[in-house]
Amino acid sequence: MKKGVKIVTIGGGSSYTPELVEGFIKRFDELPIRELWLVDIEAGREKLEIVGAMAKRMVAAAGIDCEVHLTLDRREALKDADFVTTQFRVGLLDARIKDESIPLSHGIIGQETNGAGGMFKAFRTIPVILGIVEDMKELCPNAWLINFTNPAGMVTEAVLRYGKWEKVIGLCNVPIGAIKSASDVLKKPEEDLFFKFAGINHLHWHRIFDKDGTELTEQVIDGLYAPDANPEKVVENIKNMRFLYEQVRNLKMLPCPYHRYYYMTDDMLKEELEAFQTEGSRGQVVKRLEESLFELYKDPNLDHKPEELSKRGGAHYSDAACEIINSIYNNKGTMMVVSTRNNGAIDDVPYDSAIEITSVIRAHGAEPVNFGKFPPAQRGLLQVMKAMEELTIEAAVTGSYDTALQAFTLNPLVPSGDIAQTVLDELLEAHKEHLPQFFTKVEA
Ligand code: G6P
Repeated sequence: MKKGVKIVTIGGGSSYTPELVEGFIKRFDELPIRELWLVDIEAGREKLEIVGAMAKRMVAAAGIDCEVHLTLDRREALKDADFVTTQFRVGLLDARIKDESIPLSHGIIGQETNGAGGMFKAFRTIPVILGIVEDMKELCPNAWLINFTNPAGMVTEAVLRYGKWEKVIGLCNVPIGAIKSASDVLKKPEEDLFFKFAGINHLHWHRIFDKDGTELTEQVIDGLYAPDANPEKVVENIKNMRFLYEQVRNLKMLPCPYHRYYYMTDDMLKEELEAFQTEGSRGQVVKRLEESLFELYKDPNLDHKPEELSKRGGAHYSDAACEIINSIYNNKGTMMVVSTRNNGAIDDVPYDSAIEITSVIRAHGAEPVNFGKFPPAQRGLLQVMKAMEELTIEAAVTGSYDTALQAFTLNPLVPSGDIAQTVLDELLEAHKEHLPQFFTKVEA
């Protein structure tokens, strides 16, 4: 018989943890978790204690035999782990607010995972994930790393390329929302549909087929984006602005919600700037949401995930992480959309880069379903973005200012020239504390 599973969650103090715990409880019969270690850093101690106490109540209420440990010592937790999940935010929400507000104050898109802000999130996160991988090599060399720290695609690629760690899968909730919304439009259960997603994290396209093999993609495009359609909300954090119908129809694939930043940049910017003036950046909104969530979590009688958590853009992430772990542990062969190494599944991007793609999840990991070539309209954007990601990851690892400036110049959401440099410099200064790789180089 297989032994009980040990899971370590880094960033355990996150407000998403109750969803993760609920996901494990639901699957306990198939996935017997004996130990769940929630790890955080000193700055996250209070959140860890609150959410950790809630996790313990949830496990006790479910009556399952699983120990929940809280610690600030990552190495203590990692010893002999089977699965490590990562959901941390370097610099906490304050850093996200800077990523959003500084570009916006220069009149350019300020977003958590896109444009200048997304690149800075990568600069801060990648050195930390590579440190975690080094600890894993020593303390749990057979463990799987399931990452949902953003920018999830770049983090996965950094782990593969620079961490030289193969057992990694990156995860996002956007495809879950897209699947649901297609099933609603078509009025067909999700199980009767087949979804073929391909691209990179927060920039993928998908096609839809029914059980007879008939393609339904255009029907869904019409159902969601025709002028008289009522587009549904896929994720909470992106404004539900209608795509330009003629353009999306011509793609013959459904774009992801984040494509709005690239296909309708000016409209999105206008909307973001207005929201910035009234309610603040999304990070500021989330900070208020989190405060009220943690107030709820403090209630000693609360022993289940509260409904309010679904107001966060990342809802369903953690449940999907539990399903991946379950699928690996039980070799289930579940179809999921994940970030994994390309290995030739998409012809248009390098063989060894991370892509986000429909994959079969088995004990040996994610096996991407071959996608082939994209038409030029998708390929052009995808290749620019992939090259931008490569440069961003390289800059995060080396701390090279020149490489960072090239990445900025290539990013379609950052105007090139002086403004690129001004925003880069301002963000570097604002995040100095979390970017030692850039400053030790500059000062040496
Ligand atoms: C989406 C994205 C996630 C992101 C989240 C942000 O769902 O797929 O990658 O983390 O939104 O949501 P928030 O509530 O933090 O703005």
